[in-house]
Amino acid sequence: MATNISARRVASLVGDFDTSPAYAGLADALRLLIGDGRIGLDVRLPSERELTEAIGVSRTTVTRAYALLRESGYAEARQGSGTFTRVPGGRRRAHDRAFYPGSAGEDAIDLNCAAPSAPPGLAAAYAAAAEEIPAHLGGHGYFPYGLPVLREAIAATFEARGLPTHPDQVMVTAGALAGASIVAQAFTGPGDRVVVESPTYPNATAAIRHAGARVVPAPVDPDGWDIDALSAVVRQAAPRLAYLIPDFQNPTGHLMSDTQREQLAGTLRGSRTLAVVDEAHQALALDPVDMPRPFASYSPDAITIGSASKCFWGGLRLGWLRAPLEQMERLLTARTGLDLGAPVLEQLVLTHLLTDTQGIREAHLVRLRDQRDALVGAVRAELPEWRFRVPAGGLVLWCELPAALGTALTAEAERQGVVLAPGPVFAVEGGLDRFVRLPWTRPADELVEAVRRLAAAWAEVRETTKARGPGRPGRPGLVA
Ligand SMILES: Cc1ncc(COP(=O)(O)O)c(C=O)c1O
Repeated sequence: MATNISARRVASLVGDFDTSPAYAGLADALRLLIGDGRIGLDVRLPSERELTEAIGVSRTTVTRAYALLRESGYAEARQGSGTFTRVPGGRRRAHDRAFYPGSAGEDAIDLNCAAPSAPPGLAAAYAAAAEEIPAHLGGHGYFPYGLPVLREAIAATFEARGLPTHPDQVMVTAGALAGASIVAQAFTGPGDRVVVESPTYPNATAAIRHAGARVVPAPVDPDGWDIDALSAVVRQAAPRLAYLIPDFQNPTGHLMSDTQREQLAGTLRGSRTLAVVDEAHQALALDPVDMPRPFASYSPDAITIGSASKCFWGGLRLGWLRAPLEQMERLLTARTGLDLGAPVLEQLVLTHLLTDTQGIREAHLVRLRDQRDALVGAVRAELPEWRFRVPAGGLVLWCELPAALGTALTAEAERQGVVLAPGPVFAVEGGLDRFVRLPWTRPADELVEAVRRLAAAWAEVRETTKARGPGRPGRPGLVA
């Protein structure tokens, strides 16, 4: 549904725009605001007369600015109802359907991919980075360890969390998953064992298997980690690596406490197992929690994996590794079998975002918190028999159903227009069909509608299974 934005609000958002000439400056400022999401899509812009008065420019300036916006695809005029914002190519460009498992229709709501849209401020960071790119064009553009300025900015985030880090200990990767692949290639070979949590992020398990290693699951249950049980698995398997997600674990949302980190780090040290710590969701605390110290503070040998995808945007395709200095060369050797570095423009963008003073991250977290609360409220209201704990951060709700019908529900939900991932997708060796994962990464109204559809699908599955036993398994597809 279209909404309106007042002329006063537009005037305050555009601020002091470039006036040489004014119509082009105004159009540029509006393009940036629309591209950035600070003025949403399908929003009715003020009439030319209202905006003329609010900004104090001539009517021709506004008329020509709106014309430029339309020509460049950032607005469309609708007969008799005004000028509405859009982006070139329309919403369809927002994602491709590679993550959709099956035949869900065009209006299907995607709860398969736990990755949020970009927060306002991304387009401005791209614009600032584009201005800096000429300085790099005289070089070859390959930075296999990463752009020095970004390595510094990433090292500073660890320092701020109390973990002393030299920029030389940082390697910029094409996302956290690429980081996991590099680590698996660098430290494992055929037959090596790697302990992973179950449930866990399945693409990382795939990356580990791809390197030829064998994964050994250690259960994480609905109440969190049982460190004694995990330690017993480690002692028995004597694995080369342990791949862990201690911060708002995907998919359970749990946060490992300091005591648990310390105890687990001790066990890993005792069995000479290298901790590989995936911090993809670390910067997504939504409630005022005291964040535990980074796992690497308890385990100095640990390799830490980070991501820009969840705290900023997946389309940046950037992540990082933090490792002891003496491991950097080994990681570089493994990396050059995969790629030779990440794109320079995106690295400049991420540098801006990490050194941001505009509050981009804070606004992102506020939006995610609202979305989480909307999802939690809707599930409680529509599906009261489902059980879950509300995570203090991250992106997902791990829901336990009263029966092992996750896969059947997923198949029916897809027919009703919601795509989601059932528990077995995250299980390392099958099982967990009592669970489904619901990300809160879509806008609140979409989440509420998705839960309404899910409730209808759940009622249908309950009816059918009462009559005939469990339904046909759905196709899980890729998840993020
Ligand atoms: C735990 C975890 N690690 C890694 C990734 C992938 O991150 P990236 O987009 O940086 O490759 C995800 C994405 O969902 C994730 O949840």
